[in-house]
Amino acid sequence: MKNCGGYSVGLLGIALFFGCLLCVMGMAADAPPVQATPLGLPPVPFPEANPQTPEKIALGEKLFNEVRFSSTGVISCATCHLAAKAFTDSPLSVSEGINKLTGTRNAPTVVNSAYMKLLFWDGRSPTLEDQALHPFVNPVEMGLPDHEPILKIVRSDPEYVKAFKAVFGKDGEGITMNEVTMAIASFERTQISGDSPFDRWYFAGEKDAMTEAQQRGFDLFVNKGRCVSCHLVEQTQALFTDNRFHNVGVGINAIQKDVPDLAGAFLAAEATMAEVDVQVLTDKRTSELGRFAVTRGMDELGSFKTPTLRNVAATAPYMHDGSLKTLKDVIVHYNNGGVTNATDPVNDFLSGGIRPLNLTDQEVEDLVAFMDALTSPAFSIATPRQTASNK
Ligand code: HEC
Ligand code: HEC
Repeated sequence: MKNCGGYSVGLLGIALFFGCLLCVMGMAADAPPVQATPLGLPPVPFPEANPQTPEKIALGEKLFNEVRFSSTGVISCATCHLAAKAFTDSPLSVSEGINKLTGTRNAPTVVNSAYMKLLFWDGRSPTLEDQALHPFVNPVEMGLPDHEPILKIVRSDPEYVKAFKAVFGKDGEGITMNEVTMAIASFERTQISGDSPFDRWYFAGEKDAMTEAQQRGFDLFVNKGRCVSCHLVEQTQALFTDNRFHNVGVGINAIQKDVPDLAGAFLAAEATMAEVDVQVLTDKRTSELGRFAVTRGMDELGSFKTPTLRNVAATAPYMHDGSLKTLKDVIVHYNNGGVTNATDPVNDFLSGGIRPLNLTDQEVEDLVAFMDALTSPAFSIATPRQTASNK
């Protein structure tokens, strides 16, 4: 933190005071508002109504880490989306919120979520701004009864008062959850990571950026494994998601028999989207309905959003319910044609793209090795090599 020193009041003093106010808020005055795009990614889409500014990003980061926005005063967004864990809560299979209450789903990374067309595993939220409203009031996450306690803090805490005034020109009742969530989303849009060994190999032509096993793994990813049909790799960029929803046979297999009853009861309840947010994270069986709980389309039963695979080696365990412990378990599940145990029957709603792959043991290892090449430099230090632990 830079030192403001003790300036005497006077015109110069006032000018310096405001200069220092800016530096106290944690941004360099000359920082460019638009961030550079890392290798392998498209430019970040920014909503017109919420342009990036360095001050807004810094405020968003503070809000993201604010534990006072939970009923117990110890849980922040960062509790479940830790920078050191590539913005997940690995190794938890499902997240832990207030009072160690557990939800039903694995925390996806916030990294590169700026590119997601819909948020949450079932896509029930349309924007990062909207998404940020929900964890605060979810009873198994941050547990607030409503958003009032947050507004009370940001309207009275001197640091927040100053920051909201500087960023939005607003104070008192003028500060609403719109401003709070805009700042959080702005911070999230700076969490962009590409430039992995794969990016250097594929997009920059660095021939030895990936090992031979990783190169064979990529070939399997594109051809025999058909992974690329959902985890997209395009000519100039790779988001590793098609932003669509598929049933790949996780979770729903366990409630197969009950699906008609569960789906029927769900439709009859006619819940609002806010109620759905609570239901899917507090009731394991409702959670397994997947995208169906949002669209109510039978063809989306047990469907979940294709997650990015960037930094996936750092975010075990896997899938919407965290039920698969290692990347090897994931590949074996696909190799079995969408069942975790080869002898189990596949579910009735399985996506057309999921069929047994007939991969050899070596090919399974090569695919795991390839996933290891998707880790960006920022997250590679803390990441144990999956291949070694899977041998
Ligand atoms: C108790 C743990 C927990 C807390 C606290 C939490 N999250 Fe999450 N987050 C999750 C889980 C679990 C999901 C997935 C839920 C689902 O899909 O139904 C998720 C999903 C998300 C997503 C969607 C990512 C994607 O690819 O769809 C974003 C973005 C996100 N959280 C940001 C936040 C923000 C911002 C906060 C604070 C306001 C926050 N989270 C607080 C656990 C948490
Ligand atoms: C039909 C589309 C589709 C195909 C094909 C596909 N995936 Fe997926 N993938 C998904 C979806 C959807 C999920 C999330 C499913 C869930 O949680 O229920 C997922 C999840 C994953 C995950 C877990 C990521 C995480 O963060 O939890 C990995 C790893 C993965 N896929 C790798 C692969 C590989 C490797 C292949 C090829 C062998 C492949 N996928 C083929 C759609 C697909």
